[in-house]
Amino acid sequence: MTPTSLNVLVTGAAGGMCRGINARLAEAGHTVLCADLNLEAAQAAADQITAADGSAHPFELDVTSDDSVERLLAEVQESVGDIQALVNAAGILDRKYLADHEGGSFERAIDINLNGPFRMIRAFAPQLVEQGWGRIINISSIAGTTGYHYPSYAASKAGLSNLTRSLLVDFWGTGVTVNSVCPGVVDTSMVIQEVRDQVKRKVPTEQIVQPEEIGAMITFLLSEDAKNINGADLVIDGGATQVFSLFDR
Ligand SMILES: NC(=O)c1ccc[n+]([C@@H]2O[C@H](COP(=O)([O-])OP(=O)(O)OC[C@H]3O[C@@H](n4cnc5c(N)ncnc54)[C@H](O)[C@@H]3O)[C@@H](O)[C@H]2O)c1
Repeated sequence: MTPTSLNVLVTGAAGGMCRGINARLAEAGHTVLCADLNLEAAQAAADQITAADGSAHPFELDVTSDDSVERLLAEVQESVGDIQALVNAAGILDRKYLADHEGGSFERAIDINLNGPFRMIRAFAPQLVEQGWGRIINISSIAGTTGYHYPSYAASKAGLSNLTRSLLVDFWGTGVTVNSVCPGVVDTSMVIQEVRDQVKRKVPTEQIVQPEEIGAMITFLLSEDAKNINGADLVIDGGATQVFSLFDR
């Protein structure tokens, strides 16, 4: 049976999409553990939730650092206790073509977008398994389902979606489900004006996705009704990837 009020750890919680995710989670009565690179930004995200009568706690986290993840694990345990759900939303979009990558920029994107969620899942999975119930949700992208012109982003998100599926074996029979949410163009600062201008022409709904819609999907995934959604890539893109390529070079 699904616990009704969950401790939900969200990475990248100070980002644009997470504003919508945090708000929906808090409205549903969950406690949001807001983890981000910068503690002040995490605090601001948490403040936004508490100002709307929700429950939230801020934490500092660098998903590229094993030490930082271990520190977070200890801090969360001390201040809140076990989590029941993990939302891996921290990510970067490095707008570089193949020839522009240098100085480890490709590797850094993979480290944040793919290795980061892996580190987080490895650290927090034991407590989910121990409780016999848990939800892991990775924010991937349609760029990981179709390919995309910035290779570090496409490769990291494709890897993240396939990491999601592969973990089903590890969590078999444990009560823990693992899913990816794959947004299209979402109304955040990650999306440049040129892409916004293309939405009417390339998205069948002619709409940019709002962060709260991603939050609503995640909230549903935490519910009892979602217990058999497992290993899915849940695409929220207005139908863009079903009809033609969203992205021009
Ligand atoms: N915005 C979109 O249209 C869109 C579409 C598809 C997928 N996504 C994915 O959704 C997620 C959120 O995107 P967004 O638009 O909110 O981006 P954003 O840039 O607004 O937020 C990303 C957050 O991740 C944090 N972060 C970056 N590196 C980190 C690290 N090493 N450790 C901890 N936190 C770190 C940043 O500080 C930031 O708060 C990302 O994974 C992104 O790839 C976004």
